[in-house]
Amino acid sequence: MSGCPFMAKKHHFTFSELSLEDKHEDNSQEGLNKASKGGLIYGDYLQLDKVLNAQELQSEKKGNKIHDEHLFIVTHQAYELWFKQILWELDSVREIFQNGHVRDERNMLKVVARIHRISMILKLLVEQFSVLETMTAMDFFDFRDYLSPASGFQSLQFRLLENKIGVPEILRVPYNRRHYRDNFKGETNELLLRSEQEPTLLGLVEAWLERTPGLEEEGFHFWGKLEVNIFRALEEELQAAKTKPDSEDKEEHLAELQKQKELFGALFDERRHEHLLSKGERRLSYKALKGALMINFYREEPRFQVPFQLLTSLMEIDTLMTKWRYNHVCMVHRMIGSKAGTGGSSGYQYLRSTVSDRYKVFVDLFNLSTYLVPRHWVPRLNPSIHKFLYTAECCDSSYFSSDDSD
Ligand code: HEM
Repeated sequence: MSGCPFMAKKHHFTFSELSLEDKHEDNSQEGLNKASKGGLIYGDYLQLDKVLNAQELQSEKKGNKIHDEHLFIVTHQAYELWFKQILWELDSVREIFQNGHVRDERNMLKVVARIHRISMILKLLVEQFSVLETMTAMDFFDFRDYLSPASGFQSLQFRLLENKIGVPEILRVPYNRRHYRDNFKGETNELLLRSEQEPTLLGLVEAWLERTPGLEEEGFHFWGKLEVNIFRALEEELQAAKTKPDSEDKEEHLAELQKQKELFGALFDERRHEHLLSKGERRLSYKALKGALMINFYREEPRFQVPFQLLTSLMEIDTLMTKWRYNHVCMVHRMIGSKAGTGGSSGYQYLRSTVSDRYKVFVDLFNLSTYLVPRHWVPRLNPSIHKFLYTAECCDSSYFSSDDSD
């Protein structure tokens, strides 16, 4: 029988006395008997004395208690707790990549599970604004002055989150010509600086994608084959279209094929990629982009299934962060109109400009869909690479060693 372990016997649950199995699953009579003997109890384990006594209403302190300030504080605290959990997961994933543990494919499942967990938390956070939105603008107005100059700008965890995922400083929307780190002093400032310098999730995923098996020029050479296939297929279509009788449709079709040729010409132009990279419009290296496209095309092969799930979850994180920004700015607009923020920004105007691709770390993964082609244009796997991608290895193998592709 399962249930909430803490609720097994009022508030006297002997957590430390239980075996590991008991802690997770067993709510048996034996467990209940142990619980009655005393020991670590619910409130102490969770340090609720600290958490539940951390809601100090500024309005009350000033002798003008405003009911909704309680909701405002609890909501922010709940957000910060979840940010903490996200950072916990994110750090562990970065560590797995950094230590090279992704070479053991079993760890990829762990990575994907944790990234998925992050996206589930973000989903909750996107929705959570609706609770705070039960407060009216007038109710907020009643206590807003009491909290000035405190502002979300000073949320250390939110900035750490952005940095660790891979929002670069140069792409941040500036406000009042101030650096975002100016809001932080001493240790917190250093922590942020360090998070800018450490490998980001984006950088680590990029290095991993660069090792995608099948990219080697001396091996399967996916990119070279794809280029040949696409241009051959487009040329064939072009020639076939030219033989049709003249008509408006024919002109349109020819123009469309010409556009396709230019589009794919740009994809296979590495110098153009470098240029877009320097402008921040692309974020992954050229080689990593090739790997990501390859995983997309061959996602049904056993070895690419988990990598494909990872790429999907990374896009989910970007999408949900964008939704978070959007819901936040909508709420801000409703609460303060176009008044300046307590943190010194223009408020609504500034926040609105952050809902953009500048903050989409994995924007390249979204744009891959531009380059999807009919299945029969995708290079056929030769027996050697097919065997390699078909056999998912479970042990300490070099996941991305490409030696046995032809
Ligand atoms: C009545 C509710 C809220 C209002 C009126 C509000 C207002 C604002 C404003 C005006 C800014 C821009 C910075 C400034 O000049 O102060 C801002 C930024 C921010 N707020 Fe809120 N906020 C609200 C609720 C929340 C909640 C619940 C969170 C959850 C943690 C939050 C987190 C943040 C963060 C992280 C930023 C920085 C965003 C960025 O720079 O991209 N805010 N908020």
